[in-house]
Amino acid sequence: MSRPHIYVTRMIPQEGIDLLKKTCRVEINPEDRPLTRRELLEAVKAKEGVISLLTDKIDAEAMDAAEGIKGFANYAVGYDNIDLHEATRRGLPVSNTPDVLTEATAEMAWALLFAIARRVVESDRAMRLGTWQGWGPLQFLGGDVTGKILGIVGAGRIGMSMALKSKGFKMPVLYTDEYPNPTLEEKLGARMVAFEELLEKSDFISIHVPLLSQTRHLFDHNAFSHMKSTAYLINTARGPVVDETALVEALRNTEIAGAGLDVYEFEPKMVAGLSELDNVVCTAHTASATISSRTNMALKAANNLLAILKGERAPDCINPEVYEING
Ligand code: DGY
Repeated sequence: MSRPHIYVTRMIPQEGIDLLKKTCRVEINPEDRPLTRRELLEAVKAKEGVISLLTDKIDAEAMDAAEGIKGFANYAVGYDNIDLHEATRRGLPVSNTPDVLTEATAEMAWALLFAIARRVVESDRAMRLGTWQGWGPLQFLGGDVTGKILGIVGAGRIGMSMALKSKGFKMPVLYTDEYPNPTLEEKLGARMVAFEELLEKSDFISIHVPLLSQTRHLFDHNAFSHMKSTAYLINTARGPVVDETALVEALRNTEIAGAGLDVYEFEPKMVAGLSELDNVVCTAHTASATISSRTNMALKAANNLLAILKGERAPDCINPEVYEING
């Protein structure tokens, strides 16, 4: 039997590659950078399967270029980089990598929450620059965490994990979601509320919704104006859920106290002004960047692609309708 020719758009942990190599002819982007559009369109030509990243736009044009493709395995839980509707229309299965990065992402949201509330980066900077003159009663005063209200926007896997970890800090939890989350309600007494109530009451707001047309710029001027001036915003989901220009203004005018960001509206760039502010902590989209999460993401993506190539149902298929269409 011939080995299916597949493409991996950027090097992923070796364990995933090794698994693919057992049965496939594997081609990998040789550069340690995202492919340019032109390179992507060229690379997917005549491939039976592709492991794509969140930095690859897989739209109708890319699907046209990938003539003969059997499906895409996205190396991420988020899949806003893929035109899912178009893939489904063409009967192409698409998979993602849920579960294996849930804890890592929630941990990162907590890391950002503490870092911004307790001004960790600012005081680290003072130490390194040698500008710290010794202990002082008014230095680096931040916000308390224990007992403060935690607002979770999107109580899916990651939002739920973030909320459950609040227990030790005795934080009342509010959340918004399409559906009630009985686990959060039973274990934490969390309350599902309207978005506006969450904005008005929360001391920390952590975003865990996917990027959809309904969630793009969910946090805009209006949302910031409803938040407490002492509140902090944490985003480990997708950058465009926040209007970053409006965020800069809200932070600059201390309309809100601070933000911890792992994702950006125009990655890899930040909008002008953000990097000059002290009341923001920025990390480089690293929420899933633990060795085990990234390794398990690679294994998951590989297993999904192998199933797609065999014509079997991909375990993490996000458009299972294709199996009905394809019979
Ligand atoms: C995802 O999986 O969607 C993350 O953003 C990658 O870290």
